[in-house]
Amino acid sequence: MKIDILTLFPEIALSPLSDSIIQRARDAGLVEIQAHNLRDWSQDKHNRVDDTPCGGGPGMVLQPGPLHAAISELKQENTRVILMTPQGRQLKQAHSRALSSKSHLLIVCGHYEGIDHRIIETLIDEEISIGDYVLTNGAIAAAVLCDSIIRLLPGALGDSQSAIEESFTDPNLLEAPCYTRPVDFQGMKVPDILLSGHHKNIGKWRTEQALARTLANRPDLRENASDSEN
Ligand code: ADE
Repeated sequence: MKIDILTLFPEIALSPLSDSIIQRARDAGLVEIQAHNLRDWSQDKHNRVDDTPCGGGPGMVLQPGPLHAAISELKQENTRVILMTPQGRQLKQAHSRALSSKSHLLIVCGHYEGIDHRIIETLIDEEISIGDYVLTNGAIAAAVLCDSIIRLLPGALGDSQSAIEESFTDPNLLEAPCYTRPVDFQGMKVPDILLSGHHKNIGKWRTEQALARTLANRPDLRENASDSEN
């Protein structure tokens, strides 16, 4: 897989992708990531890429010229062009999984008030938000999207089961609580069942706990589950 990130802040986008599991995936050749500075396509002698919003209002808008030139140069025939924006569809695990099978992603990062809408209409395949809050720039959101995709590439995680058994594999159920040694920590004990060696009962306990945890922390997920189960 190849991922190109187009941003005003290449270092912000690359920094979280340059360590640990993601860096190992890059070293192993599972993914090639390149971050490009939008200013390299500026059409102005001061390297500007933004201007004030038409119709007035606060902030600045990324101009269509540099974005059009950059996307046209970086896009290939098989490219999925994604814009990171709080106005996008909210990212879910199933979406990251679907994107992990693409061969080339071009991730465009918004900044300031956003990007000129004519670019969204003509060159962007989909708009993605990582949540209902506003970040200072889309480079952070791009890194989050990349991490969620790359860890799903075959071979990226040491123990491939951990990608299967975790929260959101069933999108309507969180994971059961987990414990490790010491069995007694400051008087708090690991539940006996987990030390019993009885795998069937442990499985049943985990399912019950997962449900209880989901109802406590994310009741909205159970509402979705009954919608899809009915
Ligand atoms: N840029 C700023 N905030 C964002 C968000 N929540 N998701 C994606 N891109 C963003």
